[in-house]
Amino acid sequence: MERLLPCPPTLLPLLLLVLLLAAAMAAVRSAPVYRADYLVDGNQLVNMQYHMGPVVSGSPTNLYLIWYGRWDPAAQAVLRDFLASLSSPAAPSPSVSDWWARAPRLYADQTGANVTAAFAVAGEHSDSGYSHGTSLRRIDVQSIIRAAVVAYPDPLPLDPYSGAYLVLSSPDVQMEEFCRAMCGFHYFTFASVVGVTVPYAWVGNSGTQCPGRCAYPFAPATDYGGGSGGGGQVLRPPNGDPGVDGMVIVLGHELAELATNPLVNAWYAGDTPTAPTEIADLCLGVYGDGGGAGGFVGNVSRAADGSAYNVNGVNGRRFLVQWLWNPVLGKCYGANASN
Ligand SMILES: *[C@@H]1O[C@H](CO)[C@@H](O)[C@H](O)[C@H]1NC(C)=O
Ligand SMILES: *[C@@H]1O[C@H](CO)[C@@H](O)[C@H](O)[C@H]1NC(C)=O
Repeated sequence: MERLLPCPPTLLPLLLLVLLLAAAMAAVRSAPVYRADYLVDGNQLVNMQYHMGPVVSGSPTNLYLIWYGRWDPAAQAVLRDFLASLSSPAAPSPSVSDWWARAPRLYADQTGANVTAAFAVAGEHSDSGYSHGTSLRRIDVQSIIRAAVVAYPDPLPLDPYSGAYLVLSSPDVQMEEFCRAMCGFHYFTFASVVGVTVPYAWVGNSGTQCPGRCAYPFAPATDYGGGSGGGGQVLRPPNGDPGVDGMVIVLGHELAELATNPLVNAWYAGDTPTAPTEIADLCLGVYGDGGGAGGFVGNVSRAADGSAYNVNGVNGRRFLVQWLWNPVLGKCYGANASN
């Protein structure tokens, strides 16, 4: 459900304990579950199951962006290009659209519809006046969406059939549990708050608040090895901004989960819908072949300036995205896999 940090193998016993504790705290949706990929990749514990609900199949699926706080246009351009890349055939392989085709697209629902491969950014709203302040609670995200769809004079459309809403907040905005238990989350709106039930995701910019947690591997991992010294692999961000390139990773994670489990009753592993293990949760910290073991992110490409990436996007962009659970192969997989 939520994008969390990968942990090194030395913490295995602790991880297991944390997993058990998390299961015990299942009623708390946001329990801090630190997972490691080597526990699950190719392991029989993974039981990705379908729970009869819909997937996001609208073609196109309309994305509505809400820019919460004060945004730098250059940062917005990176995120817009990433979203435009999801369904653009123009980018060279391995591309963002290849990455989407090799995992989320392979999930279908009981109507026979697959997860969409076509997205359109159908509307944007700027909440530069911080309508709900600079310190948010999770539930405030629904009110922020509500405010955007009733805004005067330029409301965002309320699109219950093929809409998904993305609330993206600037580096100065704090969020309940952000940096501690999660880096982003997705859920669905309550009709009582927004008027209809639509899937949404929130992703924050961790650049100044906690890059070592939510923009890893573009900053030394805060928790690596359990000490305070930081560590792990540090990669140069492909668009030059750890906060924004970190947001791309989290946004990719949340979108993949939103698409395959929009109402939290479609695709997830584990027994409890209050703490579902979704297709991106299973592959935290894996960005290429060999990733996930010993804190290694995997084999990724390097640009001439040394920055790391694993997929190409529109406008000559490059991005780093985490691998996702491929239901056909039964393992984490990405566009840059060697086979
Ligand atoms: C749709 O999902 C099914 C079931 O996983 C898969 O076999 C098929 O390849 C998917 N279709 C596309 C176009 O990806
Ligand atoms: C990673 O790349 C190196 C160098 O090309 C290669 O020797 C190694 O086998 C690759 N690792 C995996 C797991 O594919």
